[in-house]
Amino acid sequence: MSSLVETAGDVAAPPEAVLQVDGVDAGYGSVPVLRDVSITVRRGETVALLGSNGAGKSTLLRAISGLIPVFAGSITFEGRPLQGVPPQKIARRGLAHVPEGRRLFGKQTVQDNLVLGMYGTKLSRAEEQERIGRALDIFPALKTRLADYAGLLSGGQQQMLAIALALVRRPDLLMLDEPSLGLAPVIIDEVFAALAQVSREGGTVLLVEQLAERALRLADRGYVIAHGRIAASGSAADLLSSTDLALAYLGGTG
Ligand SMILES: Nc1ncnc2c1ncn2[C@@H]1O[C@H](COP(=O)(O)OP(=O)(O)OP(=O)(O)O)[C@@H](O)[C@H]1O
Ligand SMILES: [Mg+2]
Repeated sequence: MSSLVETAGDVAAPPEAVLQVDGVDAGYGSVPVLRDVSITVRRGETVALLGSNGAGKSTLLRAISGLIPVFAGSITFEGRPLQGVPPQKIARRGLAHVPEGRRLFGKQTVQDNLVLGMYGTKLSRAEEQERIGRALDIFPALKTRLADYAGLLSGGQQQMLAIALALVRRPDLLMLDEPSLGLAPVIIDEVFAALAQVSREGGTVLLVEQLAERALRLADRGYVIAHGRIAASGSAADLLSSTDLALAYLGGTG
């Protein structure tokens, strides 16, 4: 997947926006949590969404994937508006959301989870197996666990499977909510290595993380959200080197 496929004359156009969030207010019931939030994710980018506990990171992912109402502003995915589209339909359009916690079929094997992950895609058996093979290349730790019940995996392996379940659908945008949460440092390394591979292969990722430094080392750009508003944004390098504004809002660093 090339990020510079669209050219105008001799000048390469910037990669198009896969996701465009414009001036969004959103929340629970009628209570807004997010205020005037605007973010862009372009094709092939990894974008970090950072902020302390309760800042509104998960709320933003939920608003994007249609799980909670948007009161104002607009959300566009692949050039089409998402407001009012039910979450299942948004997922089918190619937007994958790996929520906090791991949504797996605990009483199914790892292999069956991966097949179930492709439910509704109308792929052939061979294509399904090819996609599972690619997911296992990204998460080699799952290779020896294919026949085991997902519920019996370690926390780290469950997180890997949750991400693999999203990857087998070849999403246009992969949104991850704190994939490092509760995992041992060595497992976090594995998860981040996998995300780096997804990025190298051209994947587009919106990554919510408390481990700001880790996330920014992986990402191209980042946003810091505080009290439901975007408090800072910029290139990952700029955010990493900014000691004042960005880091003031961040809980932990990697
Ligand atoms: N289901 C809910 N109903 C009502 N309010 C909620 C709900 N979930 C979250 N909130 C509130 O919305 C605000 C933002 O929460 P959110 O979960 O988006 O934060 P977060 O940035 O993801 O934090 P964390 O790092 O703890 O996951 C908080 O004030 C929280 O109390
Ligand atoms: Mg959260």
